[in-house]
Amino acid sequence: HKDLLDLDILTAEEIKHILKTAAPMKEILARPNKKLPTLRGKSVVMLFYENSTRTRTSFETAAKILGADTSNIAVAQSSVSKGETLLDTAKTLQAMKVDLVVIRHGSSGVAGFLADELSAGVINGGDGQHAHPTQALLDFFTMQERLGELQGKKIVIVGDVLHSRVVRSNVLGLKKLGAEVVLVGPPTLLPSEMNYLGVKTSYDLDKELPGADAVMALRLQLERQQSGLFPSIREYSRLYGLSLERLKQTGKDTIIMHPGPMNRGVEITSDLADSVQSVIEEQVTNGVAVRMALIYLLIGGTGSVVD
Ligand code: CP
Repeated sequence: HKDLLDLDILTAEEIKHILKTAAPMKEILARPNKKLPTLRGKSVVMLFYENSTRTRTSFETAAKILGADTSNIAVAQSSVSKGETLLDTAKTLQAMKVDLVVIRHGSSGVAGFLADELSAGVINGGDGQHAHPTQALLDFFTMQERLGELQGKKIVIVGDVLHSRVVRSNVLGLKKLGAEVVLVGPPTLLPSEMNYLGVKTSYDLDKELPGADAVMALRLQLERQQSGLFPSIREYSRLYGLSLERLKQTGKDTIIMHPGPMNRGVEITSDLADSVQSVIEEQVTNGVAVRMALIYLLIGGTGSVVD
């Protein structure tokens, strides 16, 4: 593959290969001296039209560890503010002979559009409400590290499913890996007319928690709500908020996940987010390892990681 746009075009074997490649990358990440010469001479550009802390920084860190040169387009300070189109911006980057563009954009489909137009590789760092494949891959890596093979594992994902690109990529991949997925949320954020790829949906979190191996809270995307939030934040938190007390219902040592950024006290309480069950910080660490693996697989050629 030249690009990574979403998980639909990857086979289960290809997903497993990415996760397997990420394991030694995590070991490299833990070293005191972690700089490798593997991708010396390659360049990776981050083109982010939406805000990001984790995705942008972890791609930059991942590329740097592998020895690639990196640059960041601060969209507000770039010629985008003078009206330059997305395509002209991307072609300008390509004219500088970059090898890989990581793009985040508020509109669904933008990463795919760029991938068709550019000979450089394109990684989707999140496009609108469509897809966030690298988040899903780091989620799978984290689940697998704690739970083993995902075949048959019960994964409950709760929250703002309607606006979430994270959930869409997670469902695509988790189905391929044979997990049992349950999506939970209020009817306003889990509309019945949407296509959930055949996974179970529910409006009752407490009913779905027993037996859950992992519970993932999604952020309430208040910036994407068109006409205010219903139910109210207080009611949402009472019905769908995750807490230590509520999680006792799983009857297991369930792991708690959140893609970040969190609204503490809304979709998850601090006592749970900071508990031993929480793997939220581990997800961030694993995000660097998984992105190292992806960059390496896309532009590293066939050589092994120089050790
Ligand atoms: N999870 C995630 O995509 O976080 P950022 O928006 O900080 O990149």
